Amino acid sequence: MRFLKVPRKDGERTRQELMTAGALDNGYPISSEAGFVYLPLVSGAKLPTSASKFETVEREAERRESPPKKLADALSGLLTEAERGALIASFDIIGDIAIVEIPEGLEPREKEIGEALLRVHNNVKTVLKKLGPMEGEFRVRKLGFLAGENKTETTYRENGVPMKLDVAKVYFSVRLASERKRIAELVKPGERVLVLFAGVGPFALAIAKKRPDARIVAVEINPEAVRYMKENIALNKFDNIEPVEGDARAVPLQAGSFDRVIMPLPKSAEEFLDVAFAAVKDGGMVHFYTLADANDPFGEALEKAELKAEKAGVSVEIGSQRIVRPYSPLIVQVVLDLEVRKT
Ligand SMILES: C[S@@+](CC[C@H](N)C(=O)[O-])C[C@H]1O[C@@H](n2cnc3c(N)ncnc32)[C@H](O)[C@@H]1O
Repeated sequence: MRFLKVPRKDGERTRQELMTAGALDNGYPISSEAGFVYLPLVSGAKLPTSASKFETVEREAERRESPPKKLADALSGLLTEAERGALIASFDIIGDIAIVEIPEGLEPREKEIGEALLRVHNNVKTVLKKLGPMEGEFRVRKLGFLAGENKTETTYRENGVPMKLDVAKVYFSVRLASERKRIAELVKPGERVLVLFAGVGPFALAIAKKRPDARIVAVEINPEAVRYMKENIALNKFDNIEPVEGDARAVPLQAGSFDRVIMPLPKSAEEFLDVAFAAVKDGGMVHFYTLADANDPFGEALEKAELKAEKAGVSVEIGSQRIVRPYSPLIVQVVLDLEVRKT
């Protein structure tokens, strides 16, 4: 697959220019690595002059689950090319529910947009629109109904694991699927794993599926998410996940007893690093998710981790680091895999 390799500072502007020129292939995700963003190109498309100064590179990429080509066609009479691009980029399908961001000014046409989505995605039964950002302690977004069946509960399947959830009551992001797969593949036989901020259980379930002999404790504060997590454990007939409802800071956790701690709360995981450092074994691994400046993402993230490590009397070494996804044009979500030493 051909990508345009663009310095991050030029990323958002170039993305918009490619979109307007019809040269951005929305069928593939945009990725970000070492100060560059990689913008997927439509095969044979002519680049706008401003973009042609950047290098094009071949990279492996997985096509998005739902090819938006048909969707772009269905919307062509309703939206301009730029509006279509913005809508498609914001569009997620969780189970049989589609969630979209209605481009500014298009609210009067939103029902038609919802109906168009239903027509092209046979597996979508409900279309909802975003009414704001993820917010509050539970990281939940307000949603409005657009078209189809008026419901918010669905079953989503990831890496062979079905999960039931209510998109209006719990956090969920399909965009973390490959990160969950990566983590599950790192878990070794017999590990004891702690997932803080577990939601409806996607990390815990992915690990349980991959490693039936791992023992997983999954802590979550939102009672609705815990209810779904329990349902999902039963649905998959797993017997190696212990769901715990409560605040990660307050639930009793045996010190130094976990081989691995996962912390998928990028907004404020650093405030809980002391909990993770106490729970992990000497030589164990902490997966620390955080938001950082796109210009120096790993430096900033490591600084946060080292400060907390010093306070906790441990030392950390980076096993691996990666950008998980762009969060906004200037901010990225990163993960540091931190090896923790207690001596
Ligand atoms: C960004 S979501 C991640 C959920 C899940 N791991 C996933 O990937 O879908 C963060 C989760 O942490 C939970 N949470 C926030 N603060 C918490 C706390 N102090 N203790 C336990 N869970 C908390 C929220 O309710 C939310 O479900």
